[in-house]
Amino acid sequence: MVKIAPSILSADFCDLDREIRRVASADWLHVDVMDGMFVPNITVGVPVVASIRRHTQMFLDVHLMVEKPVRFVEAFAKAGADLLSVHLEADLPPGIREALRAMEANGVKKALALRPITAAEAVLPYLEEGLDMILVMTVEPGFGGQKFMTGQLDKLRTLRGYIDRLCPTCDLEVDGGVNLETARLVTGAGANVLVAGSAVYGADDPAAMIAALRGCG
Ligand code: DX5
Ligand code: ZN
Repeated sequence: MVKIAPSILSADFCDLDREIRRVASADWLHVDVMDGMFVPNITVGVPVVASIRRHTQMFLDVHLMVEKPVRFVEAFAKAGADLLSVHLEADLPPGIREALRAMEANGVKKALALRPITAAEAVLPYLEEGLDMILVMTVEPGFGGQKFMTGQLDKLRTLRGYIDRLCPTCDLEVDGGVNLETARLVTGAGANVLVAGSAVYGADDPAAMIAALRGCG
């Protein structure tokens, strides 16, 4: 069963409570944290995640697009994140390992995210040790509303193969340009969690769009 994770990056930040309730039928809520260094944009941080936690029971899927993310793992865990994704490109391997260990120590699910340029093989050493999710960016991280990169489909198929062989409980999430058309492509390539920002928040009826995206699985 495919899980749908609306990204609040496309929501009205002045009325987050209402915006979260509009997508309450979704499986997860995706929160994009950007530091203006790892990506050329700045969004929200720990206090906003803590406020969201007070307003919803939804599973909080927090995507950290920040340099040296180990610095913030404990704070986001304490703020109420259920899962943290750190980018493989955001630190050297010892820093990434330390971030994953900190997630475990703080009781949050641990995920690695890959920029479009990063090869599937890069996750192998980490997947062998166990991951809860791999996030594949299908746009350059930084902004919502961009066009889906079909070139990432082969990477998804390769990762699905690795996951089935090495860590079958690991989720495979796709983030960027997911809509009714591309959702079919990514689920066909093995993804089972779909992030959707503009497709869900741009729809007249977000709940109907969430159901339709789920139907693409
Ligand atoms: C982009 C973010 C995405 C973004 C997706 O860097 O990681 O989560 O919100 O937005 P859409 O679905 O509009 O491409
Ligand atoms: Zn994201």
